[in-house]
Amino acid sequence: MSAAPRHRLPGDPAPTAEIERMLRVDHAGEFGATRIYDGQLAVLGRGRGASEVRRMAEAEQRHLATFEGLLRRRRVRPTLLQPLWSIAGCVLGVGTALLGEAAAMACTVAVEDVIDAHYRDQAERLCGEDAALSQTMADFRADEIAHRNAALAQGAEQTPGYDVLTAAIRAGSRIAIWLSTRL
Ligand SMILES: [Fe+2]
Ligand SMILES: [Fe+2]
Repeated sequence: MSAAPRHRLPGDPAPTAEIERMLRVDHAGEFGATRIYDGQLAVLGRGRGASEVRRMAEAEQRHLATFEGLLRRRRVRPTLLQPLWSIAGCVLGVGTALLGEAAAMACTVAVEDVIDAHYRDQAERLCGEDAALSQTMADFRADEIAHRNAALAQGAEQTPGYDVLTAAIRAGSRIAIWLSTRL
């Protein structure tokens, strides 16, 4: 397959450095996702809504394991902020689950909105440079879209303050991505 030409601007990182940053931020994101669901499951326990959360959590564990393997093989260090994401993810998970199952689902909708666009962007950028990795991003993006749809089907939008809650979580997720790409 011939590599598609990619427009690079002066100051853009070299492909390897850029791919390292992508792997680092994706690993951070999947780690954060597992912590959100850890927090939600600690509150929701074995209730009705917990089975959907557990299914999503299992997918995030698979995603995380993939990025752990990629970091090891490519000798990329994880983000320095991992301890922070451990706490922040758990707090977000516990907090939203305490607001109720619909709020827990709204959290997934908000996070997956951001991750959908994030993986789409990465898959496009990697397309001509690392086809296998691009496919991984595309596959995981499909999982995240399925999580968002499942959360909407579970009544995410019925939580009081849905718009404010999801806007805040989307903003936080974008900040976490920005930081994890750089640190
Ligand atoms: Fe994921
Ligand atoms: Fe997900």
